[in-house]
Amino acid sequence: MIDTAVSTPVLKAVNLSPLRIPEIQRDPLAFLQRNAATHGDFIHYPLGLWEVYQLNHPALVEHVLVTNQRNYSKNTVQYNTLAKITGRGLLTSDGRFWRRQRRMIQPAFHRQKVLGWGQTMLTATQKMLHRWEPVAQSGQPLDIDEEMMAVTLEIIGQALLGINLEADAAELAQAVLTMLDYVVYRSQRPIVLPLAIPTPRNRRFRVGLKKLDALIDRAITDHQQGRGNPDDILSHMLAATDRETGEAMNRAELRDELITLIVAGHETAASALTWLFYLLAQHPEVESELVAEIDAVLNGRLPTTDDLPNLPTVARAIAEALRLYPPAWVITRRAIEADTLLGEPIPANALIIMSPYTSHRHPAFWERPDAFYPDHFLPEAEKARPRYAYFPFGGGARLCIGDQFARVEMALVVTAVLQKYRLKLLPNHPVVPDPLVTIRPKHGLMMTIQKR
Ligand code: HEM
Repeated sequence: MIDTAVSTPVLKAVNLSPLRIPEIQRDPLAFLQRNAATHGDFIHYPLGLWEVYQLNHPALVEHVLVTNQRNYSKNTVQYNTLAKITGRGLLTSDGRFWRRQRRMIQPAFHRQKVLGWGQTMLTATQKMLHRWEPVAQSGQPLDIDEEMMAVTLEIIGQALLGINLEADAAELAQAVLTMLDYVVYRSQRPIVLPLAIPTPRNRRFRVGLKKLDALIDRAITDHQQGRGNPDDILSHMLAATDRETGEAMNRAELRDELITLIVAGHETAASALTWLFYLLAQHPEVESELVAEIDAVLNGRLPTTDDLPNLPTVARAIAEALRLYPPAWVITRRAIEADTLLGEPIPANALIIMSPYTSHRHPAFWERPDAFYPDHFLPEAEKARPRYAYFPFGGGARLCIGDQFARVEMALVVTAVLQKYRLKLLPNHPVVPDPLVTIRPKHGLMMTIQKR
């Protein structure tokens, strides 16, 4: 058991030379980690034009995400750049408009509704497992990162738009990745050429966006003309009205929300699953525990969402993978007005940086900060930790709308995969975390798969 009664965080001002900006761009995870290790829980430094406050302590994170969340907006480079793809969707909008949209969309993510997607999630997984059969027989390695991107795209396509994206999957996944690549490129550079200038990167971005827009446009038209699945999320969004004005979402708003849900709900879940399979391959003793639980509960039959409460070891392994490799590795906010954080003044416009990746490895709150140790999530260990020592899905009013969806999806995918296959890392394959929009393995995750 660890002692979580650590002292109050003290603000430390650090002089950061502008010469270090390329170093930050090269490896932001190492930069954030090093900062925390060297300067502690509450750090102030200038970065270009910004006054940055890096918060590495649960009490500080809770203040910004929960207690005084109305004073912290998403008007940051991170979200403004993402908005080039998603427009004013839930992830990037703020204030009254965000509240209205969240109220209208939230019921589609009610737990009961999410559980209703279990069969869709399982069908997509089984299709993937079927695809793996000849690969397993051949002994050829497979890029598990790519596989997870494909299966989560298929699941979100079905749940959101009621369409099978299989035919378009490769093209669409490529379009989304191209755009996300642009987001990363742009957010790391203070000055870039406007999108209207046809550089190769700008052109690729615009082609990708056009593809995604065309697909969304077709789906909206199909639904409006009665050809949609009445149970999918888009059908819910078309029927939803604002409780104050009675108005429904217009087409541009629908488009922004749908693109947001594809972008926010696809790569995040894929990244989490990829790292989970990596960690399990590195820790066969944990994998054996999961397989033993799965076999005992399911006895060879396929899982359903009813089984999930009986698979606590699986849930703990997922939580632990989200701790070590939180897909959303950094969360930023802008202070709207001046504020006081644990007695320290925070000026208006300050840029707040909170990194789940860094906080989740804080030595004061985790028994084995750098190890894969699912027992961190045993009930008594969870109870002993401050709430915001762990925030892979953010928190407060802006908590991820898809957190239940992602947890159910991950549990079903990992259970169905482990039931059938053993995944092993290809010897000598380099695994390097690359903090893009989410954390991805830089060279993919090449694994061999063996039938159990
Ligand atoms: C493992 C998977 C996922 C992770 C780690 C994750 C993480 C996050 C985080 C950290 C935030 C808060 C960002 C902030 O406060 O600045 C967020 C927000 C959001 N996520 Fe997720 N997410 C995941 C899956 C999903 C899924 C499956 C969906 C939808 C199907 C989704 C949709 C959204 C949306 C729409 C928001 C914005 C919510 C709002 O501000 O109202 N996410 N997510």
